[in-house]
Amino acid sequence: MEKTQILIAYGTRYGATAGTAEEISKVLQGEGFELKVVNLKEEKVKDISNFDLIIIGNGMKMEMWTSNVKAFLKKFSNELKEKKVAIFVSSGGRALMEYKGENDEIERITKKYLEDKATKYDLNPISMIMFGGIWDYNQMGKIYRKFLDAEKENFIPAGFKETEPGVYDSRNWDEIHKWAKELANTI
Ligand SMILES: Cc1cc2nc3c(=O)[nH]c(=O)nc-3n(C[C@H](O)[C@H](O)[C@H](O)COP(=O)(O)O)c2cc1C
Repeated sequence: MEKTQILIAYGTRYGATAGTAEEISKVLQGEGFELKVVNLKEEKVKDISNFDLIIIGNGMKMEMWTSNVKAFLKKFSNELKEKKVAIFVSSGGRALMEYKGENDEIERITKKYLEDKATKYDLNPISMIMFGGIWDYNQMGKIYRKFLDAEKENFIPAGFKETEPGVYDSRNWDEIHKWAKELANTI
């Protein structure tokens, strides 16, 4: 029997989504699937017909998706409707909201970042999830840095790890593994 083919197509600005995509890919390869991982900024996807599952990953910025992923969704909109699709986003905001108990905000962004996007492109994903992300002070403009300084004391209590000087990472690798394993069991 031929192996199930999976495409992970993602858009990233600060790198969190790339790392998450690689991790998901490793788990799914370990489960015996055939994987192709594409950073849509670096590589154009010409054809998705051979893939049995398309995992779309996107890093959030100012509540917006990357132009590369939006272009991908547009280009393959007809085919994606007929495919198995799963979506994940990387959010630097979620862990801070969780820490502060801002449940309404979490609900709002989950709808805006994930559900509304799926609806917009008429997709019926088998799974959607919001993972953590990275706040990288070295790659951030002055205005955003100032805005974030008010949050900085919350980073560590909210579960961020300072992985390099000025780089705070809220990705939870157990959560990412678990999601990938669940996907493996669903398809
Ligand atoms: C200028 C800027 C704007 C951001 N806006 C949001 C946002 O609206 N919501 C959110 O959850 N995270 C936001 N973040 C945090 C990002 O989601 C985080 O950096 C994540 O890692 C982005 O994914 P990427 O690393 O794959 O680009 C923002 C980060 C920056 C630097």
